Amino acid sequence: MNLILMGLPGAGKGTQAEKIVEKYDIPHISTGDMFRLAIKEGTELGQKAKSYMDEGALVPDEVTIGIVKERLSKDDCQKGFLLDGFPRTLAQAEALDELLSSMDRSIDYVLHVDVEKDELIERLTGRRICPECGTAYHVIFNPPKVEGVCDKDDAKLIQREDDQPSTVRNRLEVNLEQTQPMLDFYSNKGDLVTINGSQEIDEVFSDIDEKLKTIS
Ligand code: AP5
Ligand code: ZN
Repeated sequence: MNLILMGLPGAGKGTQAEKIVEKYDIPHISTGDMFRLAIKEGTELGQKAKSYMDEGALVPDEVTIGIVKERLSKDDCQKGFLLDGFPRTLAQAEALDELLSSMDRSIDYVLHVDVEKDELIERLTGRRICPECGTAYHVIFNPPKVEGVCDKDDAKLIQREDDQPSTVRNRLEVNLEQTQPMLDFYSNKGDLVTINGSQEIDEVFSDIDEKLKTIS
């Protein structure tokens, strides 16, 4: 099962990705998570990505395409993969297309989780994440059992640097601009499935799962 999960910042990609990979046992490839890990570990990639991420800008295509190519060549991707947050520009989509053709593989579905912009601002500014396991919560929509503490490992939840209101607006602008050409690209290829992301978390997953069940 080869999948792409698309959606603006805060649409719920990470939240849905966690459910999809658990049920279908495929690797979760999130470029955002890869960059955050690289920053935490202080690698060269992290140093390159940090200034862009802090501003809510996109990391340059050549850097991002490079890390995805490397990741997709790993053995665990043989059984399939879920790309989360990649591609995010038309150039990335075209590069991915070329790469997959050269590997004699193709995408089953591009799941576009669609949510209105105003709702996204509320979701992002209320998000809290676990610095240990990366799980995302929301102070109102998806709170942990104990306020401020991760359900899985008791770590103290924090706010992501780029979830400050001023950065959130820039992230949305930058991503809005890039999204339509990609939607057109995948729609023309016949791979695009639009999911109503404004529903409850479990309802969104149920709609995604209905689609995934049709892949043999
Ligand atoms: P990335 O980490 O990918 O961030 P993003 O796209 O901005 O998306 P988010 O992680 O913010 O949101 P999400 O859709 O996963 O939502 P979530 O499930 O957490 O990228 C970060 C940065 O890295 C980029 O800005 C860029 O600089 C760089 N980067 C990454 N990929 C790149 C690429 N391909 N090219 C160039 N640069 C790249 O949910 C959000 C909140 O809402 C949570 O609090 C959650 O609990 C809540 N929530 C989720 N679903 C629902 C629901 N149905 N109802 C109510 N609340 C909900
Ligand atoms: Zn945790």
